Amino acid sequence: MAGESESIAAEAASYDAPSRLGASPLPIPVSRLSPDTARMKSRKSLPTLESSRLRLRQIQVADVEDLFAIFSDPKTMRYWSHAPFVGIAEAEAYLRNIDAGRINGTHLQWGIALGESDKLIGTTTLFALNPRHHRAEIGYALASAHWARGFGHEALMTVLSHAFNARGFLRIEADVDPRNAASCRLLEKLGFRLEGRLRERWHVEDEIQDSAIYGLLAREFVIPA
Ligand SMILES: CC(C)(COP(=O)(O)OP(=O)(O)OC[C@H]1O[C@@H](n2cnc3c(N)ncnc32)[C@H](O)[C@@H]1OP(=O)(O)O)[C@@H](O)C(=O)NCCC(=O)NCCS
Repeated sequence: MAGESESIAAEAASYDAPSRLGASPLPIPVSRLSPDTARMKSRKSLPTLESSRLRLRQIQVADVEDLFAIFSDPKTMRYWSHAPFVGIAEAEAYLRNIDAGRINGTHLQWGIALGESDKLIGTTTLFALNPRHHRAEIGYALASAHWARGFGHEALMTVLSHAFNARGFLRIEADVDPRNAASCRLLEKLGFRLEGRLRERWHVEDEIQDSAIYGLLAREFVIPA
């Protein structure tokens, strides 16, 4: 769920407010922008991060169907903080929100793509960015067809390494439904510690969900040899 807590809650709310987000045009390709605007936008682009099997990269308009497939899958969305998408328009609005977050510097969401085919199989996000206190939250989701092959671990190692080493964060937090065994195990394997439980924090459709709060400090983060 909550992986992407407040940010996702804001996104979910924005789907109900088409005048604010839904009406925004899709991003203009950089090639069609004036040189000044293109320079400004390129500063707001995400670095591509490579690992042995994956490429973490900016999500493009061409990825919308894959984005929809990921976020409309009830298995993937079982413990998320909003219901599965039901129409492609939700994926389009989601992409506009991803672009706005990157351009405004409020959240950084990478597409997780297979290295060989570049197909989008998931996303991972640094959000609730707080440079003053050197902390951020992390969220992640993978298409269920790609679970249990170590991709979650590989993608999170990559983005955590970037967060600590390139961006200077000192603490990364995660908010997980305590019943989400795969997510809890993934975090623990990465060295996150369970720091507490917040009761009845999310109301998703007819269900009330608790939050398990995990934290990982930069000095605890170990990249396996
Ligand atoms: C959480 C998620 C990203 C894990 O991705 P993944 O690629 O399947 O995870 P990995 O293969 O890297 O496995 C990481 C660890 O979790 C364990 N694990 C995976 N699925 C598990 C499950 N269902 N139950 C218990 N442990 C599980 C793996 O065995 C591995 O631990 P190990 O090496 O000690 O055996 C994936 O399940 C997912 O996208 N879930 C839906 C979205 C979601 O809930 N996101 C989190 C929101 S907080």
